[in-house]
Amino acid sequence: MNTCAWLAGLEDRARSALPAELFEYVAQGSRDSVTAAEATDAWRSVRFQPRALYDVTEVDAGITLLGRRSEVPWGVAPTTLQRAVHPAGELAMARATAAAGGVLVVSSNAGTTFAEIGATGVRWWLQAYLPADRTLAEPVLERAVAAGADALVLTVDTPVVATKYTAGRSVWDTVYPESIRVNFDPLHDSQPGSSKATDLGPHDLDWLAERTGLPVVVKGILRPDDARRCVQAGAAAVWVSNHGGRQLDRAASTFACLPGVLTAVEGAAEVYVDGGLRSGLDILVALALGADAVFLGRLPLYALSEGEGAVARMHAELLDEVVEALRLSGCRSVADTRGIIHG
Ligand SMILES: Cc1cc2nc3c(=O)[nH]c(=O)nc-3n(C[C@H](O)[C@H](O)[C@H](O)COP(=O)(O)O)c2cc1C
Repeated sequence: MNTCAWLAGLEDRARSALPAELFEYVAQGSRDSVTAAEATDAWRSVRFQPRALYDVTEVDAGITLLGRRSEVPWGVAPTTLQRAVHPAGELAMARATAAAGGVLVVSSNAGTTFAEIGATGVRWWLQAYLPADRTLAEPVLERAVAAGADALVLTVDTPVVATKYTAGRSVWDTVYPESIRVNFDPLHDSQPGSSKATDLGPHDLDWLAERTGLPVVVKGILRPDDARRCVQAGAAAVWVSNHGGRQLDRAASTFACLPGVLTAVEGAAEVYVDGGLRSGLDILVALALGADAVFLGRLPLYALSEGEGAVARMHAELLDEVVEALRLSGCRSVADTRGIIHG
């Protein structure tokens, strides 16, 4: 199978390989899936105006993320149920991402312990939701710091979990209970105050930074004014996301929201984006628009359904595609891509 067909076929092969409700759980958006359905087309609609007469003999697709080099300009976004998608779950994702020199963001609902993930040597960040009683988050945060997490990603678009019509909560609560939340104390969810906080505010960024000593990334920002509030509250990065279309349906595409957030942040923090990115060219569009990095949610999960080797191949094929596109657009680095968007 040629490269392009292999990457583009990941979703269909995952659909065939996984139990129907598990595939549906991964692929679905909330409500009518309007936001989820339009995400990829938004990136694909962009056209480049490539540069010519530049030396592209040596090309570097690497970037610096929170002060450390990443060999690839994307990371793996936090997703649950990785051990349901493949028995090797988060460990396969971690090993393949470490080999690619990328960053793995681990869901706080992961089914593998932080210690095991850290032991793979991958550079990893913890994604957290905060509970109503913030002190209940402390043991999980401490475990993550002890296991080597080097940033904390606070997801802020989920005061409640949005309704999904097809495969809802039951999939992870009842079908795959062993694949989730192994980093929580067994009694955590039965304690008062353990439900998701509905009163998150900028002060929570301070609290998290102080508790963990780590840079805080805010995931789930779509508006310039909110991005500014994050920067003022000390966020190290703002992550433009609509949760893959899984929270507020009919939320605008991240493609549409990225430029406003970039303008508001004005380089005072890093800006990441996710949602619907499925190819190296999609990634290049986001970088050329000014994102500091891109994150991939469903694509690595689909690859994981074929095992660690497929996640490694996904990273390798995306890198080939990005490097080729850099050369074809007269760019030696990601920084050179600013300005190659047509129009
Ligand atoms: C199956 C699944 C589980 C997810 N679980 C989480 C999670 O635990 N925490 C979180 O912040 N985001 C979660 N997300 C959202 C992703 O981190 C990311 O924002 C989104 O998937 C990006 O869109 P994409 O899948 O089109 O790349 C999940 C997404 C999917 C598809």
